[in-house]
Amino acid sequence: MIPNYIREMRLSDRDELYAIVTASLDEEYLPDVFYAFSESWPEGQFVSCDFSGRPLGLICSARLADGGIRIMLFAVSPGCRGCGIGTKLLERTLMQARMEMRRYVTLEVRKENMRARAFYSRFGFRESDPLDGYYNDGGDGVRMILFLS
Ligand SMILES: CC(C)(COP(=O)(O)OP(=O)(O)OC[C@H]1O[C@@H](n2cnc3c(N)ncnc32)[C@H](O)[C@@H]1OP(=O)(O)O)[C@@H](O)C(=O)NCCC(=O)NCCS
Repeated sequence: MIPNYIREMRLSDRDELYAIVTASLDEEYLPDVFYAFSESWPEGQFVSCDFSGRPLGLICSARLADGGIRIMLFAVSPGCRGCGIGTKLLERTLMQARMEMRRYVTLEVRKENMRARAFYSRFGFRESDPLDGYYNDGGDGVRMILFLS
């Protein structure tokens, strides 16, 4: 167990978050991706950090015009996985979505990422669409959705 707490993302987190994302996700992202998310949807960006304030994981979500939320980035530092940090980050995002009275939360995940798919299923996400060739390397994805109301 790694002591940690959830807080809103700060611009000063950028370098540490970028390191977590590049170590965790196959797609390429610009280092300023967090600025863009924070400027557009400040209510949707959360970080898990240790008690020195060092980020251990992040979750970034966008607000959609039809009343949904889309999770854009979700990763926990490789050495910190499997300790409940991802669960806390996702729970915080779902709580925020309910506070905003959003209709649903959706996300995309690699088809072969069975652990992540099982993780989302435990929260009630269901697979809604296959996403053939969705990723830049040609890999297939799956869209998952959780209806909140
Ligand atoms: C998916 C992820 C954010 C979950 O965060 P976490 O802190 O490991 O999650 P928790 O500790 O709360 O829960 C553990 C569960 O997460 C899931 N999981 C997915 N990938 C995992 C990994 N590499 N290591 C550990 N758990 C993982 C499993 O369902 C696991 O449960 P299990 O041990 O029964 O298999 C994190 O594992 C991660 O960053 N993975 C790599 C990047 C990724 O796949 N992001 C999601 C893209 S849609």
